[in-house]
Amino acid sequence: MDLVLNNARLVTLQPGNSGYQTQDNQCIAIDHGKIVAIGTQTSQQQAKQVIDCEGRLVTPGLIDCHTHLIFAGNRANEFEMRLNGVPYTEISQQGGGILATVSATRQASEQELVELALPRLDGLIRSGVTSVEIKSGYGLTVADELKMLRAAKALESQRRIKVTTTLLAAHAVPPEYRDRADEYIDLICEHLIPVVAQEKLATSVDVFCESIGFNLEQTEKIFRCATEHGLSVKGHTEQLSNLGGTALTAKYQGLSADHIEYLDDSGVDALAASGTVATLLPGAFYFLRETQQPPIAKLRDKQIPMAIATDFNPGTSPFADLGLMMNMACTLFGLTPEEALRGVTCHAANALGYGSERGQIQAGYDADLCIWNVQHPADLSYQVGLPRLHQRIVNGEVSHD
Ligand code: NIG
Ligand code: FE
Repeated sequence: MDLVLNNARLVTLQPGNSGYQTQDNQCIAIDHGKIVAIGTQTSQQQAKQVIDCEGRLVTPGLIDCHTHLIFAGNRANEFEMRLNGVPYTEISQQGGGILATVSATRQASEQELVELALPRLDGLIRSGVTSVEIKSGYGLTVADELKMLRAAKALESQRRIKVTTTLLAAHAVPPEYRDRADEYIDLICEHLIPVVAQEKLATSVDVFCESIGFNLEQTEKIFRCATEHGLSVKGHTEQLSNLGGTALTAKYQGLSADHIEYLDDSGVDALAASGTVATLLPGAFYFLRETQQPPIAKLRDKQIPMAIATDFNPGTSPFADLGLMMNMACTLFGLTPEEALRGVTCHAANALGYGSERGQIQAGYDADLCIWNVQHPADLSYQVGLPRLHQRIVNGEVSHD
């Protein structure tokens, strides 16, 4: 045995458990990066390393299933503009917004992008994140999108963290393709998705399906192409209006539909039928001072898994703290702290296609764990900004990041 955790207060998040089902005095045995046994006693004499958790709470490592961590530049000026009355959509139509970050990101080298991302990643790590999804989408040329994906992957060699990458080339129409969005979609389908699939630079493809992004037809073209190349799909859907992108994502068995403030009943039904995860992004809701709430009661009623993520990005969610998002999911959307914890563990794992490997404490699962300096699991949603993480374990290795 490589590692044994003793005297842990476990919340396993195994399916079928309702309530936290906290169990005290538990041991977790870990070998070759996987959890091999959970119980009140293990053969710890043979373990190479033993950690006494001293009764601390142990949960699965947290999973941030939607971020835009790689970019250059800063958009504090737009924050100021919005508070002076200019709406986000107008800033974006004037060439600000996503395109402002695109021009800064195109000028940065892969190495510079890695350096800029590290402090953001460190914020997430301090909040207990062991797996993070990172999207491209600020390059919008073949070379710059690939550069972003490579920079995202390179973070794995800098910190003890698992990175999942998503191609979001359909994030905005690049300035050189202004009024020629369909040609840009063709470029993505013919020259980007095949390379990304071939070089395994991403496992999913995402589209910003919105009036200031791409329409349903363009979104479907990307989804069809991604599927043909063996990549999963996910969507930025129903964030600012109801276009039907969520139902389209569900039609392609998408891993997740994200934002979904403007989702209607038919969209909820489509999610229920496909098993697609509903990813809530309360940071963007809060920062854009949105008032339209995602349909939480309906999602809950249909037992649609709800994930929670930071959506870390320079324009709409500059918050590198997944615990803050758990708090916001509770205070702004009315999730329970238990739903919030599931949202950043088991449901977030499903939103990345890792539902049978990560996000739960169960034999056979990856040994990605957090040991917390808190007593009750609700504390993880209740407190913000306190140094409550005691230790993080990724693939059975204790992290000292
Ligand atoms: O998830 N909605 C589109 N994309 C990002 C915003 C990106 C930006 O403004 O830079 C989001 O909110
Ligand atoms: Fe996003």
